[in-house]
Amino acid sequence: MITELIKIDPNDSVEELMSNYNLIKAASIIKKGELVAMPTETVYGLGADALSSQAAKKIYRAKGRPSDNPLIVHVADMEHVEMVAADVPEAARRLAKEYWPGPLTMIFNKTDLVPYETTGGLDTVAVRMPNHNVALALIKLSGGFIAAPSANVSGKPSPTEARHVQEDLNGRIPMILDSGAVGIGLESTIIDFTEETPTILRPGYITKSMAEKIIGNVCADGAMIAIDSRDKPKAPGMKYRHYAPKAPITVVMGDSDAVVDRINSIADTASKSGKKVGVICSEETLLTYYADEIIPLGSKGDELSVAKNLFSVFRKMDERNVDVIYSESFKPEGLGAAIMNRLLKAAGQNVIRVN
Ligand code: TXA
Ligand code: MG
Repeated sequence: MITELIKIDPNDSVEELMSNYNLIKAASIIKKGELVAMPTETVYGLGADALSSQAAKKIYRAKGRPSDNPLIVHVADMEHVEMVAADVPEAARRLAKEYWPGPLTMIFNKTDLVPYETTGGLDTVAVRMPNHNVALALIKLSGGFIAAPSANVSGKPSPTEARHVQEDLNGRIPMILDSGAVGIGLESTIIDFTEETPTILRPGYITKSMAEKIIGNVCADGAMIAIDSRDKPKAPGMKYRHYAPKAPITVVMGDSDAVVDRINSIADTASKSGKKVGVICSEETLLTYYADEIIPLGSKGDELSVAKNLFSVFRKMDERNVDVIYSESFKPEGLGAAIMNRLLKAAGQNVIRVN
């Protein structure tokens, strides 16, 4: 299969985009049950008709994703939420009013309209209204419901640029819509409304305190930051090694000077045993390292940049063929909770604490 890469200006309005020839073509591909990769504000998604079980199956096949890992249904207006969600509690409506369109996914009991292939066999459905005009226009043109996991091959870091999608899925899907680099760079926050207290299953740009400001008490799932947790994750996707570059990553946590010292010392040992060493750090510490590939994520205080760069730095490490990666850690508050969640998932159990 030939994969067409089509540039679409994300600054056009939804109305303008809905009469764009290429988007109309993309929607006709989705309506035929095929796949189109589309930009969103978080990461690129691999879109398909969410109401078609055959189309959902194609997503799993293209990504090499286990079929028990459910997909998020993307919508463009509230009426469509009511069609896939059996009960939308008042609190969820308030969150939607505040943060949709935006980087927030909410989980509800599903209606019969949603096939089990889309929900990975679950009776619940994840719903999100993305804050990206190209995605919104494509959803509207395609009938209102697009299932879209991140457009990476299962296990790899999520794509934050169209060329990342190309690297992973070229030849496997008919079309990629390219609107440049995404704004946020980490996947949406997932909040489960089928629990008595709304529960965050995956941290993202919408933080716990941003949600609590609107709806009061919100739980953070025990399995969310996975290192010490034995809880079985409720979002099935969170149980897999994830977001990871090819080389094993070790995250070193603790006081900044001690972290630099320890990374330099383990990097030296690895280097002497013939390994090509990568270090992921911050702007502030960039010049203090000795290693083959040293890539900063951004300034320690600038979480937005760190979030935006994390996955593309993982991919850069792959391109540079490092054998091992050592990474600094970031404060796990606010957006830092999402950053550390992704870093620790990539690291699996490889965490060193120093002080
Ligand atoms: O920002 C995002 O959410 C991106 C963009 C493309 O919208 N999408 C995304 O999808 O990250 P994906 O498939 O890579 O991750 C979806 C996560 C998985 O961990 C999955 O297990 C969880 O959502 N999930 C989906 N439906 C669920 C459900 N009914 N109950 C619990 N977890 C669910
Ligand atoms: Mg994903």
